[in-house]
Amino acid sequence: MRRLVSPTTHFMLVARNSDRITAVAQDLITRGALAVDTWVMDLDDTTAHAEMLAAASERLTKIDMALIAHGVLGDQHAAEADFELAAAILHTNFISTVSLVTWLANYFQGQRSGTLAVISSVAGDRGRKSNYVYGASKGAVVSFVKGLSTELARHNILVNSVAPGWVATDMSNPVLETKAGQKMAAAAIPIGRPATAEEIAGPILFLASDLANFITGEIINVNGGSVLCG
Ligand SMILES: NC(=O)c1ccc[n+]([C@@H]2O[C@H](COP(=O)([O-])OP(=O)(O)OC[C@H]3O[C@@H](n4cnc5c(N)ncnc54)[C@H](OP(=O)(O)O)[C@@H]3O)[C@@H](O)[C@H]2O)c1
Repeated sequence: MRRLVSPTTHFMLVARNSDRITAVAQDLITRGALAVDTWVMDLDDTTAHAEMLAAASERLTKIDMALIAHGVLGDQHAAEADFELAAAILHTNFISTVSLVTWLANYFQGQRSGTLAVISSVAGDRGRKSNYVYGASKGAVVSFVKGLSTELARHNILVNSVAPGWVATDMSNPVLETKAGQKMAAAAIPIGRPATAEEIAGPILFLASDLANFITGEIINVNGGSVLCG
């Protein structure tokens, strides 16, 4: 988000951690953003999405771009033993995304413009025993985004997804910081290391820019070549 900062950029950040969102907002203001609004909510509560999005459209006057980036890895082993846990992963990663995207798609159709980017994952491409519930939720996001993009293209709305491989964040660090994780990253990622969050931000910025005016329905893989490794 830092790289989107300009004297004309008005952000609205949505997250459930009040301290974190306030710190990010302050950082963006310090860097020169025009304004930063925040909205604290648990996105699992889909009944509250419409209120948040209506507030966003009012505060921002016009929504040019939306990025949907929340997600949980979940506990694969626990989810294999308990359907409710599997359903919770699917709800956070897929159902709540469908809810947000549906509202945004209707809003963008009303203004006849808009750019939507959703973060999926390479895990959505293939079923791995280590994370197939998470992978299924991301695969569903990919199918949804692709279908929606073909529907919205005639309304001047671009819909794409960025599919990261391993990224060194809170989600993956518990694995990546182990010896086995480091060995796996060195062997499975041709570039030889996991991505930084900044390296995932680059393609998102590209999608947000005029350079991507003719791109819709794409899944941009950002994985250091790891998909090539089978
Ligand atoms: N890290 C990877 O290797 C990797 C690879 C492929 C794709 N991805 C995807 O990249 C995106 C960003 O993940 P990350 O790597 O940055 O992991 P992260 O550090 O764990 O960030 C995930 C974010 O989603 C938020 N979130 C989860 N459930 C939420 C809910 N119900 N309501 C509101 N916010 C919620 C979390 O909020 P809290 O901080 O409050 O928990 C956290 O800020 C996710 O969609 C993830 O699936 C990550």
